Amino acid sequence: MTDALLAGLRRVVGERHCLADPALRAGYETDWTGRFGGRALSVVRPRTTEEVAAVLRACVDARVGVVPQGGNTGLVGGSVPRGGEVVLSTRRLSEQGPIDVEAGEVTVGAGAVLASVQDAVRPAGWDVGVDFGARDSATIGGMVATNAGGVHVLRHGPMRRQVGGFEAVMADGTILRRLPGMAKDNTGYDMAGLLAGSEGTLAVITSVRLRLVPRLEHRAVAVIGLASARAAVAVASTLRRGLASVMAIELFTDDGLDLVLGHGGLAAPMAARHPFYLLVEAGDAVADVAGALASGLEGQGLADDAVLADDEGGRHRLWQLRERHTEAINADGVPHKLDVSVPLNRYAELVERVPAAVAEADPAARTIVYGHVGDGNLHVNVLGPGPDDPAVDDAVLELVLELGGSVSAEHGIGVAKVDWLVRDRGEAAVAAMRAIKDAWDPSGILNPGVLFRP
Ligand code: FAD
Ligand code: MLT
Ligand code: ZN
Repeated sequence: MTDALLAGLRRVVGERHCLADPALRAGYETDWTGRFGGRALSVVRPRTTEEVAAVLRACVDARVGVVPQGGNTGLVGGSVPRGGEVVLSTRRLSEQGPIDVEAGEVTVGAGAVLASVQDAVRPAGWDVGVDFGARDSATIGGMVATNAGGVHVLRHGPMRRQVGGFEAVMADGTILRRLPGMAKDNTGYDMAGLLAGSEGTLAVITSVRLRLVPRLEHRAVAVIGLASARAAVAVASTLRRGLASVMAIELFTDDGLDLVLGHGGLAAPMAARHPFYLLVEAGDAVADVAGALASGLEGQGLADDAVLADDEGGRHRLWQLRERHTEAINADGVPHKLDVSVPLNRYAELVERVPAAVAEADPAARTIVYGHVGDGNLHVNVLGPGPDDPAVDDAVLELVLELGGSVSAEHGIGVAKVDWLVRDRGEAAVAAMRAIKDAWDPSGILNPGVLFRP
């Protein structure tokens, strides 16, 4: 059966794109963190939607699981095999259509990488509403499948808000197509909205009609040193209310900064060190925003503990201090990554209580937090515990539920948080989700083990 399936897959995508060599497959079999992965039966790289449909039909017939994979930058283990599945890489579905400059829309293949779409649309005065540090590898299809958030959610919303239309292939090979997609479209269920955040469990997304946002060329970035998480939340809230051009409000700590400086050979943003830092970005299409950001900081008495840049190089240097946390942590070990959100009025309490919760579960563990404070989203990273030891994960997620939060803010459930989905959403909601899954994928071949226990 397996040999017949492999022969069938080779016929569909061609010998070269059905990877048999373990060395070639390795990069598709382990996740970005190094915490998750397994052997694939095969890695296939279809070039067209019809090839995707044929791959899925062959896998349904053979009752073999399929793991859709884009850039493999996901952080919850959903993009890599657990053992014996076919990995369906979308990277060759990377075609980019012409930009509809009037409407501010573009249709791109699911495998198009975020940075290349940004490069294509920016000269036309448009931009992609979602942006984050994995832009050079993450694909548009993967971003929709995870409903990715990133640094500009407070301005533009998450990936679900950027999707105007889609093309996707269901498990049995049926092609669903709603391209280009209308801004107003009340024709039954919102399938694009459903696919956003489905993590490869309902269909393989092959094409996306992106609703673009105006390019905001005038930008300024400030890093502000603060004494406490409470002060950081208060400043963030005042800036959100008073600074109309605010695009991002990010939090990091002095421990995290140390790690990033050591790993990246970067310079500290200011001479004095502070327990917490906020990175604030403001942007506008026409007006100069640096002055407004500077006076917003002055108004709060923060100017002495802040640095501000409005030139491209300076802004990039400040952003590096926040964006390079992920790689700096990975360089020190295999992290447990807990991406959570809580109501903003509990955010400071979460930051304050996380170290003790982790220490109680594992006294030797090391915790580094940072996140998108403007969205109530904290990234708790723990180094030390073995990859399969759930103690610190459980301690942090228990605390998050106690504070009325969500166990996944933007990375998704994947395989990392399957047991916590029921704790967070409740039996009835998860049963309703499972009914949707069963209707779309009755043989259960799409990403088995993700969202639900198989
Ligand atoms: P993959 O990792 O390949 O897949 C992710 C999930 O989507 C898997 O479940 C997979 O099966 C499914 N999938 C992928 N493509 C398809 C498709 N075409 N059809 C159906 N299912 C599919 N995430 C954020 O939300 N915000 C951040 O700020 C952020 N920053 C990051 C920074 C770094 C340095 C890194 C490494 C990751 C970051 N991430 C962030 C996580 C990750 O980049 C996002 O989840 C991203 O959306 C994944 O895209 P991908 O193409 O790599 O998908
Ligand atoms: C981030 O905000 O940097 C990303 O979500 C990645 C991470 O959590 O490390
Ligand atoms: Zn994030």
